[in-house]
Amino acid sequence: MVISMISPNRQHTHGVKTVVVPAAGMGTRFLPATKTVPKELLPVVDTPGIELIAEEAAQLGATRLAVITAPNKQEVLAHFGEFPLLVETLTERGKDEQVAKVKRAGELIQPIAVEQERPLGLGHAVGLAESVLDEDEDAFAVMLPDDLVLPMGAVEEMAKVRAELGGTVLCAIEVPREETYNYGVFEIEEVSGLDRDDVKRVRGMVEKPDPEDAPSNYVATGRYLLDRAIFDALRRIKPGKGGELQLTDAIALLIEEGHPVHVLVHHGGRHDLGNPGGYIKACVDFGLRDPKYGPSLRGAIEEILVNFDAEKAARAAE
Ligand code: UTP
Repeated sequence: MVISMISPNRQHTHGVKTVVVPAAGMGTRFLPATKTVPKELLPVVDTPGIELIAEEAAQLGATRLAVITAPNKQEVLAHFGEFPLLVETLTERGKDEQVAKVKRAGELIQPIAVEQERPLGLGHAVGLAESVLDEDEDAFAVMLPDDLVLPMGAVEEMAKVRAELGGTVLCAIEVPREETYNYGVFEIEEVSGLDRDDVKRVRGMVEKPDPEDAPSNYVATGRYLLDRAIFDALRRIKPGKGGELQLTDAIALLIEEGHPVHVLVHHGGRHDLGNPGGYIKACVDFGLRDPKYGPSLRGAIEEILVNFDAEKAARAAE
């Protein structure tokens, strides 16, 4: 078992002990790669999404990462293992920087595997985490490993909102209205008597609406601070879109029953690693910021653009 190396006074500073990471999906948008490689292990520069999430969870002060995995995706948990032979070989060769890279994931946080036998939906996956929580955990976080919300720290802010308003807190970003069809869209109202305008009350949620039907341009990202009441709601919902148990439907049920649900509007960046288009953008963004690869990548991108535009112009002139 891996022991958390986060110092005790960093732990649970925001009351969140457990971060649930659903990682049992089929990753169909990444086929054929995901026949054998879980999408949560695809690297952004050199670090897989699951490790970036472990870092975010550790930074929050959580001590447990409940990773929901599928029977054929054992490598996701294996990423947190110790790899003694690899460490020994690298140490013998004096490759200390690489040794640190091998050890890092396991030192960040304690992972716990929760198996989802079949991909019955995000709601089903989150419901399985109930068995992992301690009795005194009234709330827990969910971080989707294919969604990078930057800079890290959104859930910490969401925990402050929960401390003030109670209930469940979700994370929203604003997108142009014509892009709302890709997302879960919030129907919101202002909260009176609050001295910040980045928190709104959620009246409802619509999954992937036509832009003209979208109730706002505030859309859901992959960060949730869920009240324990969500488990009861998850037990009562029926399969929704795609025949899957949807987390959105359970949240909608909580709202209907008067449970407070708010969003924190995130003003930073975001990368969707769940599809090749978003993943490539994230790799370029992180790559450009990488001290080792950034400078040459910039030049390479400029060259690619020049060649690409020249080819396009030549084709147009044919
Ligand atoms: P996604 O819908 O983005 O992932 O779910 P997916 O189903 O793997 O991707 P596609 O649509 O087939 O390409 C969001 C997160 O929820 C997890 C996924 O692993 C992903 O991290 N998930 C989804 C589960 O853990 N179990 C499920 O049944 C469904």
